Amino acid sequence: MTINPGNHPMERVTQHHCTYRSKQYGFLTHDDEVFFKWRKDHLCTIGHDVWIGHFAIIMPGVTIGIGAVIGCGAVLTKEVEPYSVVVEVPAKPIKKRFSTQQIKALLSIQWRDWDYETMKNRLSEFNDIDLFLEKSHSIYNVALNGVEHI
Ligand SMILES: CC(C)(COP(=O)(O)OP(=O)(O)OC[C@H]1O[C@@H](n2cnc3c(N)ncnc32)[C@H](O)[C@@H]1OP(=O)(O)O)[C@@H](O)C(=O)NCCC(=O)NCCS
Repeated sequence: MTINPGNHPMERVTQHHCTYRSKQYGFLTHDDEVFFKWRKDHLCTIGHDVWIGHFAIIMPGVTIGIGAVIGCGAVLTKEVEPYSVVVEVPAKPIKKRFSTQQIKALLSIQWRDWDYETMKNRLSEFNDIDLFLEKSHSIYNVALNGVEHI
């Protein structure tokens, strides 16, 4: 997998490192701040519980939502919605892992922030989305047919 492969300055006469890593080549005492700022401004954002398949490439600035699946070999050029499955070049959604209501509920529950003991006690529910949301309904007041935030 490759995340945020850097772009070279293709609009310049040369795409070589020497125009932006000029220190390394002894040309200047400083590197090209504007060039490196562009890279910093285009970081990738990857939500938790994302599965990235082999040889996928996440292009600069792309955001991947929580729980998404990136098929092997996909090239991501655009944002991926939470719990979506995307494949191909450029990556396109082929399905969602769960229904819209289930996804809303999962995003609302924010189980990633649970402490270790809670996770341990509820581990078996993670194998069954319906059971998981049913239990969460009583504990967190998450309505399955219309999420209520507590
Ligand atoms: C994306 C993925 C999870 C989808 O799995 P799935 O839900 O079982 O999907 P299916 O095999 O039913 O395929 C659904 C369709 O997407 C296509 N497809 C699946 N994975 C694809 C991929 N990586 N690239 C392009 N097309 C893909 C299939 O050809 C099929 O197309 P069709 O509907 O025209 O026949 C899986 O194919 C994948 O890429 N897994 C990543 C494996 C990996 O890299 N593991 C690394 C170890 S961590």
